[in-house]
Amino acid sequence: MKNFKTLQLSNTYSDNEIAVGFQILNSAGIQTTFNDENIVLDFDVVDMKYIEKQQNKTKELLTNVLDELLKIRSFSSSNGKIVFKSFNKDKKVIGKKENKEKRLGYESFQRHFSEKNNDTPSRFLNKIHCVDSLVLLKQFPDNCIDLIVTSPPYNFGINYNNSNDVNLWDNYFEMLFNIFGECVRILKSGGRMIVNIQPLFSDYVPSHHLVSNFFIRQGLIWKGEIIWEKNNYNCKYCTWGSWQSPSSPYLKYSWEFIEIFCKNTLKKDGIKDDVDITADEFKKWVYAKWSIAPERKMKEYKHDAMFPEELVKRIIKLFSYQNNIVLDPFNGAGTTTKVARSLGRQFIGIDIDQSYCEIAENRLRETNSLFAQGEN
Ligand SMILES: C[S@@+](CC[C@H](N)C(=O)[O-])C[C@H]1O[C@@H](n2cnc3c(N)ncnc32)[C@H](O)[C@@H]1O
Repeated sequence: MKNFKTLQLSNTYSDNEIAVGFQILNSAGIQTTFNDENIVLDFDVVDMKYIEKQQNKTKELLTNVLDELLKIRSFSSSNGKIVFKSFNKDKKVIGKKENKEKRLGYESFQRHFSEKNNDTPSRFLNKIHCVDSLVLLKQFPDNCIDLIVTSPPYNFGINYNNSNDVNLWDNYFEMLFNIFGECVRILKSGGRMIVNIQPLFSDYVPSHHLVSNFFIRQGLIWKGEIIWEKNNYNCKYCTWGSWQSPSSPYLKYSWEFIEIFCKNTLKKDGIKDDVDITADEFKKWVYAKWSIAPERKMKEYKHDAMFPEELVKRIIKLFSYQNNIVLDPFNGAGTTTKVARSLGRQFIGIDIDQSYCEIAENRLRETNSLFAQGEN
């Protein structure tokens, strides 16, 4: 087995398909094992022609295996069979560490902020504040928040009760970056800034890139990007731009972006007892494409642009410890504060609109009753 090459595929097949398919693969020279999640194939010499001939005996399994085998470039042929060589080696880049040192990585853009973290004044903690974020955040000390999770107003013209959501893009970004500048300042060393943002594709303004550029220029480290797949089928069937013509086809998106930044370091210190993510959650959520349905209760909570609780739950569990302080400067109907509270984090929610703040407070009461019932 030592010199065999190994290929792993997700197991999405029926028992019958596996039984039939494995017999054929074994006859073609491939050793097979499987569990609920994966199929593992070990091989060095494979009779591809044999698999091709039998391909129609399973619905998809053999076709998928052939596709994967054909992606392997390092092979030769002998007696009509394919001999795979150095498959496990051919993905390796030589001198990875030295190359990284030559490029310098994120340090090229990073700024070094003070490593001294401060306490958050108790008057801000575990409350919803109805005020302009810029005004309140200026009163926070430097380096006092562990995690900021937010989705800013998008400048789409959404009907927020109290704030105008259509501005010249320049004015919009000025407002946003003033508030985000304060966020950078108040984030702890080791803290994370996580922004859910949806560009207005029809204006051809890439807000997610401009926001990322802002934080990188401020000296935060870009940790990565999560694609939030909303499976929003509506967008798949209308608005084509120039129908069936290259003149100006309109690209459509059923997803939004989650941009993640760190202050000073990628690593966040915390104690083991305060970790609450399970092994299964961790395995699933580090794969940076999350399929989550949009919030269904927007009517009930009287807010037109909410993100779903599941999205915030994943962000908070993956990027913070219990008891950490989580802040949302555009808290809307209070999704962040509700989820943070129910996950045993301290929270601060700010929104300029009184009625949204009242809804956010009501939702916090729901978590109080969850706590009372011991269900969180
Ligand atoms: C996209 S919504 C956030 C919705 C929230 N994520 C939720 O799930 O309910 C943006 C929010 O920013 C608020 N907002 C706009 N300008 C603000 C400002 N200067 N300070 C505080 N909140 C502001 C709006 O009232 C709106 O509720």
